[in-house]
Amino acid sequence: MSRRTFNPNLNPYVAKVQEHSDIIMAQHDDGVPDTEGFISLSKPIVVDLGCGAGNFLRDYALLFPEYNFYGFELRYKRLVKGALKFKKHNIPNVRLIQARAEDLALWFPQGSLKEVYVNFPDPWPKTRHLKHRLITPGFLERLSGLLEENGTFVFKTDHREYFDPVKSLIESSGLFEVTGYSEDLHHSPFNEQNIPTEFELLFKTKGYPIYYIKSELR
Ligand SMILES: C[S@@+](CC[C@H](N)C(=O)[O-])C[C@H]1O[C@@H](n2cnc3c(N)ncnc32)[C@H](O)[C@@H]1O
Repeated sequence: MSRRTFNPNLNPYVAKVQEHSDIIMAQHDDGVPDTEGFISLSKPIVVDLGCGAGNFLRDYALLFPEYNFYGFELRYKRLVKGALKFKKHNIPNVRLIQARAEDLALWFPQGSLKEVYVNFPDPWPKTRHLKHRLITPGFLERLSGLLEENGTFVFKTDHREYFDPVKSLIESSGLFEVTGYSEDLHHSPFNEQNIPTEFELLFKTKGYPIYYIKSELR
């Protein structure tokens, strides 16, 4: 089966994505996930949805070489920047997936994921755009099937109007037990274990509080 044919006329980073096909995976043109370049699925698997330019994955992977990391991201430039970082630091255990976070279940078997992170997702603040938000009851249901026993889901945002409904959805789903919660992560006991993301550091310099919720599969 052939790899996905990216359109290099779209933007210059499309061609650059192809130069890093050892790290960046994508769907085939027929919509089938290209998992040929996946690292082993037998190790603990950590997934970062909307990983941006990969800072969180880089810092986490350097701390835990025994885990395997996968980041979902749509934007070509950020994918390329991420791949360059992993190569610069000789990090062998990260792969990036150019696909929608909503399609997570196409890529991994049921019960296979140790940790899933959604860090600073696009908040879609306008009422008519709320339907674009990633976290929905259906998403949480699919996520619960993908997590392994005691698997965890972590959500961080600077956007209270997104955080409050996500917290309610998690609590009312009956699928997860909340094991960590803060409305000011950087001044909470959870900060000690926290790995800040690129956007998180940006919001920190602006003095915004960071909302954090960690939940474990029941
Ligand atoms: C606000 S940025 C946060 C990036 C990173 N998580 C951080 O905290 O620094 C949100 C990222 O999610 C990506 N994104 C948005 N919708 C997505 C989707 N449906 N699937 C995968 N990535 C998505 C965007 O391209 C962007 O890089």
